[in-house]
Amino acid sequence: MMAGTVPVDSLQINILVDNSIEWMTALPPPFLNEVPQQLRNNPPIDEKLTGLPFIDLENYCCGAHGLSFLITTTHGDQRHTILFDAGPESKSIDRNIKALKIDPKAIERIVLSHWHADHSGGILTALQLIREAQEGVSNPLPVDLHPKRPIARGIAPAPSFKPIARLPADPTLEEIKEAGGEPVLNAEGHAICDGQVWVSGEIQRVTDFETGLVGGIEWVDGSWQREPGQLVMDERYAVVDVRGKGLVIFSSCSHAGIVNVLHSASKTFPGRPIHMILGGLHLAGPELAYRIEPTVEAIASYKPDYVVPLHCTGFDAKVKLREALGDKIVPGGVGTGVFIVAVKDDESEENRNTRSG
Ligand SMILES: [Fe+2]
Repeated sequence: MMAGTVPVDSLQINILVDNSIEWMTALPPPFLNEVPQQLRNNPPIDEKLTGLPFIDLENYCCGAHGLSFLITTTHGDQRHTILFDAGPESKSIDRNIKALKIDPKAIERIVLSHWHADHSGGILTALQLIREAQEGVSNPLPVDLHPKRPIARGIAPAPSFKPIARLPADPTLEEIKEAGGEPVLNAEGHAICDGQVWVSGEIQRVTDFETGLVGGIEWVDGSWQREPGQLVMDERYAVVDVRGKGLVIFSSCSHAGIVNVLHSASKTFPGRPIHMILGGLHLAGPELAYRIEPTVEAIASYKPDYVVPLHCTGFDAKVKLREALGDKIVPGGVGTGVFIVAVKDDESEENRNTRSG
């Protein structure tokens, strides 16, 4: 157990923004796609004709290239809810929070995984929704950020590495303050939510094949630079330790490499099994194809119960993961809910023995 953290009794995850929506594939028990959740949550009814609830497509979630998780944990009678990333722009986070009928009032902190607009672009809108819902609350909302906000980041694809485009600007600290947020700058790992959630510090790079975001560039001193843009050293992951089940790891874009993330999480929480990995694994594109095999092999060696490859993982990597790990690979997407309840540690030992036996 990492100092300052506590294993939680329950963890609910709502994937608020992701690139894909997958309704048709059967999901294992802790996962529920959007439709059954909508049908349980006061759906509009066709009173005039059939008496059945509508699949209310006009007001369901939309996909967008980015990621946002709503994370709710409980320990005893303490309950905490945070937003981990906020998607790429103002529209998807707004639509999807409303579509899933989430009460923004409950969100007590926003945590940004790294300074890229597909994760930071919805922060100001999320803040606006939360502040409106928290009418009468005067304290600003903590927005947990890495202190090194780049001036600009862009793309210079291999093999020429010629800059072709820049990302939209991340929100500034001033804009965050104006929207009712309080920037909380953290370069080091730290526990939040009474120890129920851990946010990492800088991710140590230990593998030789995970060399960052090939083609990433950063504007430094008036010109585009490759190294800071490729390494994205401001990236952080988050961990929730579910009692009797193990670590649930949120790695939004895995520019540091998901194997480096797993190595870091295992070092931080020694001896804890990895229950679930969720996030963008960033293995798309021909220039990263060589990383798929060693990554899949390394993920398998950690024996996770579930992996939910999202966002920037890429089709080929998902196929290879499925081939190697079968049903442990879960096709989550926007609107997927994950409901994890702790078990007693001795029950979990039994479970794990049964599973491996
Ligand atoms: Fe991303």
